Amino acid sequence: MVRKPLVAGNWKMNGSSASNEKLLDGILAQADSFPAVDVALFPPAVYLQQVQQRLQGTTLAWGTQNLSQFRQGAYTGEISAPMLNDFGCKYVLMGHSERRCLYAEIGLDQLVLDYIIAEKYGAALKEGITPIVCIGESPEEHEQGKTEEVILRLVDIIIEHSGVKALSQAVLAYEPVWAIGTGKSATPEWAQDVHTLMRERIAKHDQATAESVQILYGGSVKGDNASSLFSMPDIDGGLIGGASLDADNFVAICQAAASV
Ligand code: 13P
Repeated sequence: MVRKPLVAGNWKMNGSSASNEKLLDGILAQADSFPAVDVALFPPAVYLQQVQQRLQGTTLAWGTQNLSQFRQGAYTGEISAPMLNDFGCKYVLMGHSERRCLYAEIGLDQLVLDYIIAEKYGAALKEGITPIVCIGESPEEHEQGKTEEVILRLVDIIIEHSGVKALSQAVLAYEPVWAIGTGKSATPEWAQDVHTLMRERIAKHDQATAESVQILYGGSVKGDNASSLFSMPDIDGGLIGGASLDADNFVAICQAAASV
C-alpha cells in the first residue's frame, strides 16, 4: 500500500501575528510545488483563528499542539476537542516530549502520562479530529537500550484504550528526544528500524491498519536530510520544529516529501 506523505509543522511557542502572516504567505505562495502531500500547521492556540482564516479553502490543514482529555469544565488553561472542532482543526498533536518533561516536573511518571495521552487520543477521535501521537525515547533511555520498550509501551496502551482499528484514523510520530532541536537527526536507518517496530506491533493486531497508518519522523529534519529520511519505506513524512518557522525551509521539506 502506498501511504500519502504528511508534513506537519510544529511551531511550538513561536510566532506573532505579523510573523505568522509572513510565514503563511510564504508557504501558500509555493503550495503548488508539493502536490499529493498532506501538510498541516500547528501554531500556538492563540493564533488558531488567524491560521484558520488564512488556510481555509487551501490544501493545508491546521491543528493545535495539545488538547485536554476532558470535554469541558473547570480545567483552567486547557482546550478541549470540541473547541478544536469549532476552529476547523483536522489534526491535534499530543504526547510531545516537551509537554512530557513539563508534566514530569510536577511528579507524574511516564506510565501515567502514557495513559493520559491515550485518553487525549480517545477524546480527539470522538470529535473526528486526527490525533498525531508523539512517541520517543529520552537520551538516557536511548543510551540504556530502552527505545523498544518505551515506544511499544505507548503503542500498546493506545491500542488497549481505543482498539487497533482506531489507528487507521490516527498518525504516529517517532520523535527521539535526543534528536529534537539538537541538529542531530536520527539516521534514516535508525528511524526506519523504529518505525518498522511500531508497524509490526500494530500488524500483530491488524495487518491492514498497520499498512495504512502514517508514521512520521521528527527531530532535526531539514531541507537537506528530508529526502533521505522520507525515502525509507516506513517513514511517511515528518514532524518539523525549527525548520517549520521559515517558509523556504519548510517548503523544501514538503517538496522532498512530494518527490520520494
Ligand atoms: P526540531 O525539528 O526543531 O528538531 O523539532 C522537532 C519537534 O519537536 C517537532 O515536534
